[in-house]
Amino acid sequence: MRRGVKVIGGLVAWVGGTLGALAAAVANLEPEVLADLRAQAAAVIDRFDVPDVKAFLRAADALPDPGVRTVWRTKDRSQAYSQAEYEALPTEAKADLTKRECDAGFYYQTGYGSPMIYARPLELAARAGDGTLRGKKVLDFGYGMIGQLRMLATIGCEVQGVEVEPLLRALYSEPMDTGAVRGPDGSMGRVTLHHGRWPGEKAREVGGGHDLFVTKNVLKRGYIHPERPADERFLIKLGVPDEAFVRAMHDTLKPGGVAIIYNISPAQNPDDKPFLPHADPRCPFPKADLERAGFEVVEYDKDDSAFMREMWPAVVPMKPEDRAGLDANLFARYTLLRRPR
Ligand SMILES: C[S@@+](CC[C@H](N)C(=O)[O-])C[C@H]1O[C@@H](n2cnc3c(N)ncnc32)[C@H](O)[C@@H]1O
Repeated sequence: MRRGVKVIGGLVAWVGGTLGALAAAVANLEPEVLADLRAQAAAVIDRFDVPDVKAFLRAADALPDPGVRTVWRTKDRSQAYSQAEYEALPTEAKADLTKRECDAGFYYQTGYGSPMIYARPLELAARAGDGTLRGKKVLDFGYGMIGQLRMLATIGCEVQGVEVEPLLRALYSEPMDTGAVRGPDGSMGRVTLHHGRWPGEKAREVGGGHDLFVTKNVLKRGYIHPERPADERFLIKLGVPDEAFVRAMHDTLKPGGVAIIYNISPAQNPDDKPFLPHADPRCPFPKADLERAGFEVVEYDKDDSAFMREMWPAVVPMKPEDRAGLDANLFARYTLLRRPR
């Protein structure tokens, strides 16, 4: 009898130990970026006052593991295919494609850094609206990475992202990437991605009725109207005249809706060095053009460098000596617009 108890006890201990080891192994399998994103959100949350922006940051806790994705690209990078699309291609079309494995770090941050930075434009926009984000219909022009879209959907927003980069279309093509997102509090949001030019070919598909139009590091004067000759590959083509673009921004909003153009940049090169398009963070559209389209211009090219220099080191890994250089090499500006009721 005593022996039987010992055996059962030993078995229970063994099963318990094995399950514990298994749980630890599973925990270790979580991609490092998910813990990094949660840590970034926790590190900046106290800088924000708007409750829904805090909720947006807390939504980092609910970001799922997307696994490793394989995408295939043409050499000139003008086309990209998901693994499923690749497998359906004829053999001769596969020959010239290059394989790229995209881990969870790339999935959430691509080359553009932390989605937590979006908390700043979202807070400015929320304050210019009714002070909330939950349940809002949001359009992110040139979204560049999916994390901020997913986090907004987690707090119940209906989010649309527009992009022209073929790699992102192929990368974000699994069923879990888009569609309904249930937040931990039971709220339901949605992510919809559009690949192509907006407003050009995508205006009808994207539609209107947005509460918020957000665009970060896309509508920079340096990209759209560079002051000096620049490498064409680094410029952004809107595909329509400025007036048509600004009108589309206005018309895609509900009356009372808000648009924010938020840009972060390094210092510009001196005149004897090549012009850096990304280093001119000013709004590409003159204030008068924004007003002519019907916007109330709440802020125009407002300097936000001080806030961003405080926030940046919490979300971007950097050496202490680089922190000291932020005053001379990190700038932020935003333009905040409202469609009158
Ligand atoms: C510097 S990244 C910014 C990405 C992201 N918004 C962020 O803040 O990290 C600029 C993005 O704009 C996209 N883009 C460029 N031209 C575009 C266009 N005409 N329409 C939509 N997206 C565009 C690029 O593919 C790229 O992903």
